[in-house]
Amino acid sequence: MTTVLITGANQGIGLALAQQYAAEEADVLGCCIEPATAASLSELASLSGSRVKIIKLDVTDETSIQSLKDELRDQPIDILINNAGIIGPENQSANCIDAEGWMTTLRVNALAPMLVALALRDNLKRGYEKKLVAISSGLGSTSIDSSSTLAPIRYAYCASKAALNNGMHALSRDWANEGVLVGILAPGFVRTSMGGAAAAADPTSISPEESASGLIRRIAELTSATSGVFQNYRGEKIPW
Ligand SMILES: NC(=O)c1ccc[n+]([C@@H]2O[C@H](COP(=O)([O-])OP(=O)(O)OC[C@H]3O[C@@H](n4cnc5c(N)ncnc54)[C@H](OP(=O)(O)O)[C@@H]3O)[C@@H](O)[C@H]2O)c1
Repeated sequence: MTTVLITGANQGIGLALAQQYAAEEADVLGCCIEPATAASLSELASLSGSRVKIIKLDVTDETSIQSLKDELRDQPIDILINNAGIIGPENQSANCIDAEGWMTTLRVNALAPMLVALALRDNLKRGYEKKLVAISSGLGSTSIDSSSTLAPIRYAYCASKAALNNGMHALSRDWANEGVLVGILAPGFVRTSMGGAAAAADPTSISPEESASGLIRRIAELTSATSGVFQNYRGEKIPW
């Protein structure tokens, strides 16, 4: 039985991942900041018997990460998906560098996935698949000019995803000899809270379900050849 841990599993792409893995009969550890208000995740948990378990986790809080580790103890995790993320401050153009907003964005999107990965490293090593996955963004690519699709450029968000990519790429090298594979995956432009009105109005945007099903295929196909490679949910390589 595959065990999958997903952060930010109460809505959007994280919830769709939890639903689809549960439908595949995986054991799902769905993490969220406040289980008491995670209605859709609670419904999934009650419909799937004991296969979906909800765990409280604020990825910015090191005590919360330690509590997660304490709760899991030596439980093997096959697939660890760092999905939780934020778009960052409202105004993050070249004319407005909101220092606190930047730090929060970097903390959630870039530092937290590293801290969660390190905390659960032994659980991952005990798993059969040993797959560490970061839900990144095409906006983390320095090579792609995002100014046409996003005006103004969201400096903090783009920087945070570039930092995430860099850290996860380094882990793909450093943990390779432990058998850990690292997926760095962009989910597309998705109609979620984060995607907001722009995604809702964009005919090229996709549903969380379509994104999740592509991500799950990429994770299933992850090998040492694609570990540390930045790719989208369709399996197309993205330039750094
Ligand atoms: N939507 C897109 O078009 C798009 C494109 C590229 C990349 N992505 C990435 O895809 C991932 C999922 O985004 P989404 O579109 O599904 O957005 P979303 O619907 O806003 O969901 C974000 C999730 O992250 C959780 N989260 C935020 N801060 C957290 C924290 N400190 N601790 C724990 N959980 C936290 C949220 O919890 P609460 O509900 O409690 O706030 C929520 O469950 C993110 O990493 C995002 O950057 C999305």
